[in-house]
Amino acid sequence: MHLPVLLQEVVEALRVKSGETFLDCTAGSGGHTLAVAQATGGTITAIGIDEDEDALSRTHERLQAAGIQATLREQNFRELDKTLSDLGVAKVDAILFDLGVSTDELLESGRGFSFSKDEPLLMTFRKNSEGRVTAREVVNEWKEENLALILEGFGGERYAERIARAIVEARVQAPIETSKTLADIVSAVVPRSGRTHPATKTFQAIRMAVNDELPALEEGLRKGLASLKSGGRMAVISFHSGEDRIVKRFFKEEEKSEGGTASKKPIVPSREEVQGNPRSRSAKLRIFIKK
Ligand SMILES: C[S@@+](CC[C@H](N)C(=O)[O-])C[C@H]1O[C@@H](n2cnc3c(N)ncnc32)[C@H](O)[C@@H]1O
Repeated sequence: MHLPVLLQEVVEALRVKSGETFLDCTAGSGGHTLAVAQATGGTITAIGIDEDEDALSRTHERLQAAGIQATLREQNFRELDKTLSDLGVAKVDAILFDLGVSTDELLESGRGFSFSKDEPLLMTFRKNSEGRVTAREVVNEWKEENLALILEGFGGERYAERIARAIVEARVQAPIETSKTLADIVSAVVPRSGRTHPATKTFQAIRMAVNDELPALEEGLRKGLASLKSGGRMAVISFHSGEDRIVKRFFKEEEKSEGGTASKKPIVPSREEVQGNPRSRSAKLRIFIKK
């Protein structure tokens, strides 16, 4: 099961009190929602959003088993304003974004997020990928230079051009249909470094492109802040330098225009947390308190 990252740090940063409303924009497998709700003995109003309906089912089961009530909505957080207005909620006291993909999605979604699985290349957070851009479309239809651009821009991949070339050459022979085929194409042209799989950055970059993750984050942050009460707290956990840059810049600009106070430095996981959960190693938590 997905291990929530920086759990205690998030609970402390958000300081959600009895009677307050908490919006979890990335419910995932419910770990953070559960901890935030339990910290007050379940006496808060909890709202959880996730684009992935399976994630919401996991959250529902987990909260129900603990006797915690929450309202869950299948939605992209870039539309969180719509979710709140549909629920008749004007403003909330605390908001969390815990970005990216969960371990459960990587291992169980069947949508090709992981290079260690042989699954259809979809990579959409939404389970029903009909009418959406999928990873299959990206690798089989995008121009070589655009592939190289996302691999470098989102993945920070130094072999971006070499990988883009290999993908284009491979798809001339036969369409690239599965995560394993893609992982093999990349592994053949990227030298292995340490224990990191050669296709790690490629998979991250394609997932970010498929889900339009950076623009969604910018929109979510803006709408999230507009939906916070005065004195409300926002916490964002990012796993990628491009995400962290957006969060840092957004909080700085809001602070400059006297909209509130941003945490000076990001909070990062302890050595013990990284040992127990290696996936947490790149996490950065930033906090903003609205004026
Ligand atoms: C890292 S996991 C969150 C884990 C969660 N905090 C927990 O403790 O279990 C990120 C989740 O956010 C969802 N997600 C990512 N981007 C999203 C977006 N723009 N809108 C809605 N959900 C999103 C993913 O489907 C995934 O379930």
